[in-house]
Amino acid sequence: MKGKGNTLIVGLTWGDEAKGKIVDLLAAEHDIVVRYNGGNNAGHTVAFGGQTYKLHLVPSGIFHKSTTCVIGGGVVVDPKVLLEEISRHEAVAPRLRQRLLVSSRAHAIWPWHRKIEELSEKHQGKGKIGTTLRGIGPAYADKANRVHAIRLGEFLRPEHLRKKVERIVENRNQAFVKLFGEPGLDAAAVWREYAAYGEAIRPMIADTTAYLLAALDKGQRILFEGAQGTLLDIDHGTYPYVTSSSASAAGAWPGSGVPARAIGEILGVVKAYTTRVGEGPFPTELKDALGDQIRQQGHEYGTTTGRPRRCGWLDTFAIRYSARLNGIDGIAITLLDVLGGLPELKICTGYTVDGKALAEFPDDPAALEQARPVLEDLDPWTEDVSGVRKFKDLPRAARAYVKRVEEIIGAPVRLISVGPDREQTIRRR
Ligand code: GDP
Ligand code: IMO
Ligand code: MG
Repeated sequence: MKGKGNTLIVGLTWGDEAKGKIVDLLAAEHDIVVRYNGGNNAGHTVAFGGQTYKLHLVPSGIFHKSTTCVIGGGVVVDPKVLLEEISRHEAVAPRLRQRLLVSSRAHAIWPWHRKIEELSEKHQGKGKIGTTLRGIGPAYADKANRVHAIRLGEFLRPEHLRKKVERIVENRNQAFVKLFGEPGLDAAAVWREYAAYGEAIRPMIADTTAYLLAALDKGQRILFEGAQGTLLDIDHGTYPYVTSSSASAAGAWPGSGVPARAIGEILGVVKAYTTRVGEGPFPTELKDALGDQIRQQGHEYGTTTGRPRRCGWLDTFAIRYSARLNGIDGIAITLLDVLGGLPELKICTGYTVDGKALAEFPDDPAALEQARPVLEDLDPWTEDVSGVRKFKDLPRAARAYVKRVEEIIGAPVRLISVGPDREQTIRRR
């Protein structure tokens, strides 16, 4: 089994670590980029040549014209969003329709998924998850439940699809009408709309597992793109305030069909501070003017929903947990430039509950809710580092910050991002 040359990019916190930027950068050194989890709840940003591109479903490697992009079977696909995204970007991503493969095993997101999620979040009131309302959770629930799930491969059989849509809508309408007193969906209208999407995506639907295994045999290099982040992973994240897929590196194997041993290097991505969108515990959150300053300087508003992101100090206690869980080989630190000019600088090195230090990142949401961060002071810097391209040219305090992170996490910092553009990157060793 090879492995060498294949790289996995995974977020180590609650998403939005600038994975998109790193994937775009490293795509230049790979033949194939594969998204393995999540759906259009993701918002990945790529910037080059003075332009910014926001991607939700297509892999962040699309702007490299000789790269094949794969949406793996572990992804849930909203066909409408997929087609809109292809149309929006194909002028800058030449021959995208010929370079994009979508797994026949991937499950589709339907209008009933979005509708049930909207009703459920509304009815939860204060207890809501704060989801992106893209139908992600209900689509994965149906996948696990099997009875009312539709894989993209089924779009290749229109008559079968029509009957299945009718059956599912009939079933779902009972819940919408009887339980929620809401109007039901019109099966014929849904079918007409989705049959057209099916025709448009038909040429891109493929057995991507077979494609990737053959690529491995040929020695082609594969880059795995994780969506969300480890602390949002359904099994290992801060449950129930998580997403519904395997958002850690562990999702790459089932989500792509490529054996875990084929993955050579795992690069964990962290922002230089920590953010979170939606509900759920966040021990280092700054609910004060400093938090507002970080949000301003980092433009911390969601790429997908536009919601203000909650901002706080870098949580190395949580990141150390994620780093060990994923078995990372190296770290990419992003948005380092945003910390310049803050009046003070702290990182979290541990948690206490009732004054007692925790040995491990808590598996219990109640403990995480009560956790108080143990904060270490580091020297702030005032310089603008966005033009720096060599580690040695960073201010002393910024270098010390990076080294302290390496020391606590126990992995080398391979990449430092000092601005959104591809070029604004420092490579190390
Ligand atoms: P992703 O979901 O992990 O791909 O991250 P997002 O794209 O949701 O959020 C990252 C945001 O930070 C985007 O707006 C990027 O353009 C921006 N960004 C990426 N790297 C840097 C950086 O080093 N500095 C600054 N200031 N912004 C960055
Ligand atoms: P990227 O790939 C940040 C969050 C939502 C919510 C929770 C569940 O851009 O890093 P969902 O709609 O998935 O059921 O919502 O997960 N969430 C993200 N937060 N970045 C993301 O993706 C996210 N995708 C989902 O805000 O708290
Ligand atoms: Mg994002």
